[in-house]
Order: sequence, then C-alpha cells, then structure tokens
Amino acid sequence: MTKQIQFFDTTLRDGEQTIGVNFSVEQKVEIAKELERWGVDVIEAGFPVASPEDFEAVQAVSRAVKRTRVTGLARARKGDIDACIKATKDAAHKQVHVFIATSPIHRESKLHMTKDQVIASIRDSVTYAHQFFDIVEFSPEDATRTEPDFLVDSIETAIHAGATVINIADTVGYTNPVEFAELFKNLRENVKEFDDITFSVHCHDDLGMAVANSLASIENGATRIEGTINGIGERAGNAALEEVAAALYVRRDYYDATSNINLKETKRVSDMISDFANMPVPHNKAVVGANAFAHESGIHQDGMLKNPQTYEILTPESVGANKTTLPLGKLSGSHAVMAKLNKIGYDVDRDDMKKIFPIFKRVADDESIVTEDDLKEIMDKVKEAVH
Ligand code: KIV
Ligand code: ZN
Repeated sequence: MTKQIQFFDTTLRDGEQTIGVNFSVEQKVEIAKELERWGVDVIEAGFPVASPEDFEAVQAVSRAVKRTRVTGLARARKGDIDACIKATKDAAHKQVHVFIATSPIHRESKLHMTKDQVIASIRDSVTYAHQFFDIVEFSPEDATRTEPDFLVDSIETAIHAGATVINIADTVGYTNPVEFAELFKNLRENVKEFDDITFSVHCHDDLGMAVANSLASIENGATRIEGTINGIGERAGNAALEEVAAALYVRRDYYDATSNINLKETKRVSDMISDFANMPVPHNKAVVGANAFAHESGIHQDGMLKNPQTYEILTPESVGANKTTLPLGKLSGSHAVMAKLNKIGYDVDRDDMKKIFPIFKRVADDESIVTEDDLKEIMDKVKEAVH
C-alpha cells in the first residue's frame, strides 16, 4: 500500500540554530504561512522556554496557520512543557515535542544521569505532557549512538507514558543508510507497539548523508521526516526537506510513498529562507541551486536538445524553478550554439556554423559564459569576414 509521508519542518527551530541566523517573529510568521502553502504537516515553531522571543514566535505561528500542526520543543522538564502548553494554546492543531538524550556519551558527559534516571525522566515528562496534548512526540536525542537495547527501553517507556510519535534523532549525522535499516529492524522486532506508532527520523548532515538516511528510513518504517528548507541548521545542517520531497516524487515507483507537499512551491519557499536567513543557496545545490537545471558541456547540451530526459530527471517546472538553461561556454558544441543563434533571430544552418563556430571558440576561451551580446558581436565579425 502507498505510504503517506508526513513532513515535519524545523526550519524555525533547528534551522535557526544555524550560526548567524536569527529570524524575527514577523519573518517566522511569513515563513510558517509559506510552509503551510508548501504542504508541510507539522511546523516546529521554536523552543518556547528558551527565550521570550521564541515563546512569542511559537504563539504567533500558532495563531497564523490554520491547517498545519504546530509544535514547540521541550526538554524532558515540566517547565519546558508548560511553556509549550501556553505558547501553542491558540493553535488549531498542535502537538508537543519532548526530548532527552539516551546515548552513553550524552548520559555520562552531558546529563550526568544513569540509565534509570533517564528512563524516569522520560516516564515523568511524557506522562505530564500527555495530560495536555493528544499528540506527544518523543525524541531520544543521539538515538543512533544509543545502545540498541536501551533505545528500545527508552522508546517503550515513552509509548507507555502516552507518546504516539517516536522520532529517531541522528543528532550528529553519524549513521548511514544501512545502519538505519538495522536500527529499524531492531525496533520492529522489539517495540511491541511498532505498528501503532508514527516513527519519525531527524537526520543531521555532518557526513552528507541526512537525505539518504531519511529516505532509507522511509524504506524501513518511518512515515514522518524532520528537516529544514535548504538543509539549514546546526553545524552542517539538517536533512533538506526539498530534496526529500523531490526524491519521493522522482522515484515514486521505488518508494511507493506520497505526501501533502505541493512541489511546485518548492523554489519559492527555498528563496524565502535563503533571503531571510541571508544564506545564498550554493549554485550546485540539488533541486533549488541556480545550476540545478543548467547544462554546459557540448555532449550534455546536444542530448538536452534532442531529448531533455537525457540529462534531467526532474523538470524545473515541477519544483517552480526557472526554465532549463544551456549556457554557452568553451565546452559547448556547435549544435547548442546554432540553436541559440536561431532562437535569438539569426537564420543559420550547419554550413554557416563551420565559419561561426571557430570564432565562437576563440571568444569562449576568454569568457566563462558567452552571452547574447557576445553572440551578436561574433555574428558581426562573421559578416565582416564574408564581405
Ligand atoms: O538533533 C537533535 O537531536 C534535535 C532533537 C531536539 C530532536 O534537534
Ligand atoms: Zn537537530
């Protein structure tokens, strides 16, 4: 049966943990509305206990969006949960996201807690949160570096206390797709309630595997993916949700999964985040980078002119990006140059190209991109040479 994948966007919380990024409350509201239009299922609007501004932002987003569920983040502490209760009071749809670290390094070096103390903290905090929220999401932070047995114990404790969403956090982007499959196998075999729970993953990109890990998790039982737009976030960032959405669309036969994402709005939401975060999107970034639909080499341009599917698995229109371009440079072939000349009004054929192309090559050696103006100059030179 086709799986329905939920998109949980944490651009406003984990995304804002990017060094140098600080969205205003007004910007957060605008972003949340754009995310709602894009079709995300859950917006993590902030960490209400962290600061009065974060509280205000979660409150403002809760009031601004209508269809999308809003969540605040809470450590496994009553005060954090109370702040989430107050901040999301006016949301039409809400949940809470409670977390505590479960891995040995975090338990011993950061929390100074024993396993029993961590278990008690999960039980107490989730039980408390469940009195106020129908949906309690519990995240074992650094889940992927947690002992498999203790991960099961932590998750079982959260489920028995009322959690219905379990979010496996690859907090430091340590795991790979094969290990994620093993992790899910362990959970499927040992968490009795596996089929009644929404399993989510939250992948960081320290080794460049956040999107691959998210997709592997979908293959192994996750039905909710957490991430950010453009992959912004702490250190190397989070799973880029636009890449997950595009992969589910392009490889829909493979993943047999669908979502509420309106893919045509993708470029628009990416542009907004890039602008508000003051973080230009790298040109070669998948799906939304300026070069994602640009082809320079002669062989590729020739293929594109014959059939765009030779070198494009996704059309720019499907993600709302600008049309495909075939920028002319020193690697371009005669076919692409002729096509461009005809497009801008010159009636040239393959014979004419024998004279034009050598001049084009000389210009292209000096310029990284040959513009329309350069082409006009080239054509003037060709005319002069003929007369
Ligand atoms: O990376 C992480 O572990 C987190 C948790 C709060 C889910 O952001
Ligand atoms: Zn995170």
